[in-house]
Amino acid sequence: MQLSDTFGRKFYYLRLSITDVCNFKCEYCLPNGYQHTEKKCFLSVDEIKRTVDAFAASGTQKVRITGGEPGLRKDLTEIIKVIAANPAIKKIAMTTNGYNLEKNAQQWKDAGLNQLNISVDSLTPHLFNKITGVNRFDDVMRGIDKALEVGFDKIKLNSVLIKEFNDNELHQFLDFIKQRKIEMRFIELMECGETNEFFNKHHLSGDGIKQFLHNQGWVQQMRAKDDGPAQVFSHPESQGSLGLIQPYAKDFCDTCNRLRVSSVGKMHLCLFGEDGVDIRDLIQDDSQQPELIQRLHDAVSTKKVSHYLQEGNTGATPHLASIGG
Ligand code: 5AD
Ligand code: SF4
Repeated sequence: MQLSDTFGRKFYYLRLSITDVCNFKCEYCLPNGYQHTEKKCFLSVDEIKRTVDAFAASGTQKVRITGGEPGLRKDLTEIIKVIAANPAIKKIAMTTNGYNLEKNAQQWKDAGLNQLNISVDSLTPHLFNKITGVNRFDDVMRGIDKALEVGFDKIKLNSVLIKEFNDNELHQFLDFIKQRKIEMRFIELMECGETNEFFNKHHLSGDGIKQFLHNQGWVQQMRAKDDGPAQVFSHPESQGSLGLIQPYAKDFCDTCNRLRVSSVGKMHLCLFGEDGVDIRDLIQDDSQQPELIQRLHDAVSTKKVSHYLQEGNTGATPHLASIGG
């Protein structure tokens, strides 16, 4: 039976975090780098398989692998393969910072990965390095070239809008996608528990970009049922398209179609504001699937209508690396 909530929203899309470790130090996420304070035991390949199988049996058609940085897991190719082995899963996407993409793009594609989202907050090398806290600009650029060459179904670049950092780069990004089949996405900075000072200083609304796009003849596209929350625009003279994610816009939550599972096996109904429902005890053996499916349905029936971000809620989310963006 399809997972759905009391507001009529149906959940086709699972975002699965496979680690919360990251090797970047993005200013708005992990400004001091990942802190290895406690030893965590991340979901094993078998646990991931059982999780995905139960979601697939409940209507999930798309899985996004996230982190932290998923590319840090040595068994990532294996993980992609077990997800791809489920015939109900039509699309597998992954969000990565791209640090080892050049080396692995072909292997990940061959394992069954269809879509990639790569974080690129700036196309100016020194700014990129400043925002991410690492000197990886060239690695990421080579990774993008490789991904285009390998031929994924879809490649998206994510750029978080940050006042005083990358607010002058719109033209550069538009030039970059003119001859490349890439969806460039601008994401408004979101306030998380540990980064609210940064948020207050650097949050920038996407409304200016939207106005600019309208003026320049960009046209907004329709949304598919398993699409993310971006408003997507295209232009006859650009091969690439442009997406805008405005989590603070009213109605943002109306089209929510996703659920999340963290790298330690907690199901989260929203990116913000709750503790999560533990499912790890029910992914230890295949015979537990009926009980697991029941728990998923029970949890989803309690999903709230909105994230209440506008009211300043950041809930239990210290930073997005902890739950996978
Ligand atoms: N606000 C908006 N986007 C964020 N990301 C990480 N933290 C935040 C935040 N506070 C983005 C990353 C990456 C994706 C997983 O989420 O840049 O592209
Ligand atoms: Fe790592 Fe992504 Fe957080 Fe940057 S935003 S520190 S790449 S998890």
